[in-house]
Amino acid sequence: MASQNLLLLPGDGIGPEIMQEVKKVIAWFNEKGGMSFETDEGLVGGSAYDAHGQSISEEDMAKAMAADAVIFGAVGGPKWDDVPYEVRPEAGLLRLRKDMQLFANLRPAICYPALADASSLKKDVIEGLDILIVRELTGGVYFGEPKEIIDLGNGQKRGIDTQVYDTYEIERISGVAFELARTRGNKVTSMEKRNVMKSGVLWNEVVTQTHKNGYEDVQLEHMLADAGGMQLVRWPKQFDVIVTDNLFGDMLSDVAAMLTGSLGMLPSASLGAPDGVTGKRKALYEPVHGSAPDIAGTGAANPIAMIASFGMALRYSFEEVAAADKLDKAIANALDKGLRTKDIASPGQTTVSTVEMGDAIIAELD
Ligand code: NAI
Ligand code: MG
Repeated sequence: MASQNLLLLPGDGIGPEIMQEVKKVIAWFNEKGGMSFETDEGLVGGSAYDAHGQSISEEDMAKAMAADAVIFGAVGGPKWDDVPYEVRPEAGLLRLRKDMQLFANLRPAICYPALADASSLKKDVIEGLDILIVRELTGGVYFGEPKEIIDLGNGQKRGIDTQVYDTYEIERISGVAFELARTRGNKVTSMEKRNVMKSGVLWNEVVTQTHKNGYEDVQLEHMLADAGGMQLVRWPKQFDVIVTDNLFGDMLSDVAAMLTGSLGMLPSASLGAPDGVTGKRKALYEPVHGSAPDIAGTGAANPIAMIASFGMALRYSFEEVAAADKLDKAIANALDKGLRTKDIASPGQTTVSTVEMGDAIIAELD
């Protein structure tokens, strides 16, 4: 493997603690896994604000743009509640997503066998679950114009958000979904609401056309997004890859995530478009959870979401599928042996610390 540059952005709260465990995993793959990762580290969020008054410096932004992948911890917390909106910790993450044009957000929902009892759904509904939600992240109603509150002058106001999607945005996100499906269960379910939304009609058309233009080997199915939400809870194993817009994806991916248990378990990837010359995508990998200020510094943070996010980097940025599988297996084995951080322990069960969970995963890699 040619040398690859990783920019580590631990952030604040539990971010630095869980990043410490990923560093051990990266070192393991360098020493024993035949990989060659070079890491650099930067400040983001509260740690950056405390150091220099910005949520991310221009220098670190430039490093992120140049990195083969960014590994991001978490940011935010009550300590920074009163800082100006533009420099609040979360602004650093939004800036990264925007400047790197990370339009594809991938959130897997995987049920680890040892945790099949942890879900609010019945064990047979989620046992063996392995689905992937692909959410469009840089378009749709979160960004469309007009977006405003206008005063109607009669004591009423009007709040307006606009759902906008152009052909190219739907093409590229569905392309990502079809490509990913080929590496998994070879099926894509596209979700929109074409029955009531013009953007949904276009979404449906463009996904169908993209499918015809080179992905006909992948099974494609269309589902209305509300029915999709219902099916996710009724029988989630019918899905492989789900592709949907920014708003529906926000909600459906939270639903899918919670099928499998704790926030401390869930990784994510955000990908940009392939570079015209090198074919490489900009990418950022981060746990779904936040900075957990309530447990920061106590050694109770579950490092699995963070470590599994690095596993997604192996899979999607570096095409090291065997290594990614190996890491996922190491996590599953540690869980099979009964190791539990507090967030995934049953009442009365003995728990391990962040560092102990990291060490156990390293031991399984060995
Ligand atoms: P949170 O995800 O930080 O925490 C929610 C609950 O889950 C807390 O009880 C926490 O202790 C627990 N938890 C989260 N991750 C865990 C882990 N790895 N191991 C064990 N327990 C874990 O969400 P919350 O409390 O709503 O937000 C805290 C701060 O994080 C806020 O400032 C928020 O804006 C920020 N945030 C940042 C995100 C990011 O950096 N991408 C995403 C979500 C929230
Ligand atoms: Mg959300």
